[in-house]
Amino acid sequence: MSTSQNTTSPFAIYPDLADKRVVITGGASGIGAAFVESFAAQGARVTFLDIAEVDGMALAQKLKSAKHAPRFLRCDLTDTCDITNAFKVIHEGAGATDILINNAANDVRHTLSDITPAMWDTSIAVNLKHLYFCSQAVVPAMQAKGSGVILNLGSISWHLALPNLAMYMTAKAGIEAMSRGMARDLGSDNIRVNCIIPGAIKTPKQTLMWHTPEQEAKIFNGQCLKMRVEPEDVAAMALFLASNSAAKCTGREYYIDAGYYGDGV
Ligand SMILES: NC(=O)c1ccc[n+]([C@@H]2O[C@H](COP(=O)([O-])OP(=O)(O)OC[C@H]3O[C@@H](n4cnc5c(N)ncnc54)[C@H](O)[C@@H]3O)[C@@H](O)[C@H]2O)c1
Repeated sequence: MSTSQNTTSPFAIYPDLADKRVVITGGASGIGAAFVESFAAQGARVTFLDIAEVDGMALAQKLKSAKHAPRFLRCDLTDTCDITNAFKVIHEGAGATDILINNAANDVRHTLSDITPAMWDTSIAVNLKHLYFCSQAVVPAMQAKGSGVILNLGSISWHLALPNLAMYMTAKAGIEAMSRGMARDLGSDNIRVNCIIPGAIKTPKQTLMWHTPEQEAKIFNGQCLKMRVEPEDVAAMALFLASNSAAKCTGREYYIDAGYYGDGV
């Protein structure tokens, strides 16, 4: 690892990430957009998948002068055919994906009685199922190459038993188990699988939904460190875990939450 001397990038530079093939789901906004920016700043070859076309194209345009301009592909990750097609495009004429970041999710608030069987399926599709099938799409080429990294985004929410999120939290808890299972199954192929667990991150969507100054004061009250955790902080963790500096890290959960043991917000 070295630090960037002459660029405007706020990120440490990991030389081994340059030219790596990185796929990021849900990369058009929020934490995913910080992943796209931070890996592009390493000189990695980034492809990001998202359903939000306007945001995705705007981000690709913003970063077009990166060493490798990130590529945006529209993909509805709740549709496994869309996933298959997207990875067909990604792998066409290219080598193995080196790093997959399974980031997309949708943390819709609900009460227990709101949920219908159809909504259950939708929530699992957007918060859990695609992580499995995106991983399945990249693993054979990683195995053939003898290396790879998969990072899955969990959530602090279920560790804190937050209210009105039982469906989302069910999926997020499953992601931790899935990560450990895959880490065990893929370790002998030198494929590392870890889970990043963000705390309360102030993204544009969270700000619109509920992240008011009053809520932030409550969050700070529950955090050991009284400071806001930003998407870039989560990206810094992802860069480390994706790099060779984390070569011995697999099958674990890495929190980036300012020590958030709070009693619910
Ligand atoms: N923001 C937080 O405080 C926080 C806390 C804990 C965990 N997380 C986790 O971090 C990750 C990123 O969170 P965020 O706050 O940036 O989320 P976000 O809602 O701001 O962004 C999610 C992205 O996923 C995309 N997406 C949603 N459904 C999709 C679909 N069907 N197909 C393709 N793309 C789709 C959205 O368009 C969006 O660009 C998520 O896994 C989330 O659960 C976030």
